[in-house]
Amino acid sequence: MAPKITVIGTGYLGATHAAAMAELGFDVLGLDIVPEKIEMLAQGRVPLYEPGLEELLRRHVAGFEGASGRLRFTTSWEEAGEFGDIHFVCVNTPQKHGEYACDMSYVDSAFESLAPHLHRPALVVGKSTVPVGSAERLAARLAELAPAGAEAELAWNPEFLREGFAVQDTLHPDRIVVGVASDSAERRLREVYAQPIAEGSPFVVTDFPTAELVKTAANSFLATKISFINAMAEVCEAADGDVAKLAEAIGHDERIGRKFLRAGIGFGGGCLPKDIRAFMARAGELGADQALTFLREVDSINMRRRGHMVEFAREAVGGSFLGKRIAVLGATFKPDSDDVRDSPALNVAGQIHLQGGQVTVYDPKGMDNARALFPTLGYAPTAVDAAQGAHAVLHLTEWREFRELDPAELGKAVSEPFILDGRNALDPELWRAAGWTYRALGRPRA
Ligand code: UGA
Repeated sequence: MAPKITVIGTGYLGATHAAAMAELGFDVLGLDIVPEKIEMLAQGRVPLYEPGLEELLRRHVAGFEGASGRLRFTTSWEEAGEFGDIHFVCVNTPQKHGEYACDMSYVDSAFESLAPHLHRPALVVGKSTVPVGSAERLAARLAELAPAGAEAELAWNPEFLREGFAVQDTLHPDRIVVGVASDSAERRLREVYAQPIAEGSPFVVTDFPTAELVKTAANSFLATKISFINAMAEVCEAADGDVAKLAEAIGHDERIGRKFLRAGIGFGGGCLPKDIRAFMARAGELGADQALTFLREVDSINMRRRGHMVEFAREAVGGSFLGKRIAVLGATFKPDSDDVRDSPALNVAGQIHLQGGQVTVYDPKGMDNARALFPTLGYAPTAVDAAQGAHAVLHLTEWREFRELDPAELGKAVSEPFILDGRNALDPELWRAAGWTYRALGRPRA
């Protein structure tokens, strides 16, 4: 019989995983400790913006017209323990307040709450990003707390989905990595992922520490790639080179590749920044801190970009923000998401505001989250409204909507036609042809 699946934690990872498991044909019970989240999901509504997720949810949520009914939600640990043969733990692991290390309290409390309800053989599968060594500790804790004892087994199955592509990445992953301690755990996970495996997704079987490390290594590599190209942008600025051309040219080398070489105001979000810091902290605990000192540099190159963008803007408006209007296009940390966690765009907007600029922000999906985080900034309902009377327009998140803006129309709204492209994503020719001064990080003035 097909295993019944629970998904613990229905944030952006868990909600997507739960809906995807139902899509793959399993009966799924999603659990969260926040009743409001569960109520929304049970009504087929997603508490965040992720393209395609709400549609997927509505195809399966019980009680929704035409839905398969394979997906239900609860706040009861007892119900989850009784229901599931396989339990996926998808809670978040933020950065600890005032420290680099990862806050494991949500993961720990999920295990503490679930384990006492495991009365029969069960596989608990960790998906959260955790410091290496956590799985071994949690496996022991599970065997200790679960009435099923050693028959409550642990596996680690890191998640590589990207915000904005979460549904696609979950249903068609480019690899599946499982850290297991037994053949039966591997067999069960092959059953869960039979469909993507049949489609050709590589299935990599490892021990616990390797599975945990794969995730942090992957995010560290991506962060390093972005900071590398941003370091090249700094050199290009000093030498009057063009980082966009440079990225294009080195990217043709297949060993380097073109992806993740877009220079700009750098990486943000709920994953890359905190993951590299937690990785450094954990390596320090293990006595391997020297191996990761380069990540300090990756982090500081990245954070420097934000300050650099502010200086770039200050220079554009004549050396001081006092009495100047600045339009900011984009608030989310990347397009196709409403996530503003550690968003470089909002960070830049906030700094300019603190230096006396009158900042007006527009973002296609992130307005509510941005307003909640930075209530003192100005907000406008459209890009053109944000640009009214602006002395400079800053393009800080590369939404398609901004690439499709008509420079001539925006030009009528502003006080000075000055655009600073913090994402190297607009077409300089188009903007210059419409009478704008176009400047971008790491590119010549022209
Ligand atoms: C990242 C990883 O890409 C996923 O594989 C991973 O599963 C996820 O973290 C996670 O750990 O959960 P995500 O945070 O959604 O995914 O964002 P990315 O697409 O990696 O972008 C991160 C940041 O880098 C964004 O702020 C983006 O604007 C920036 N970026 C990306 C650049 O500045 N330049 C680039 O060339 C690419």
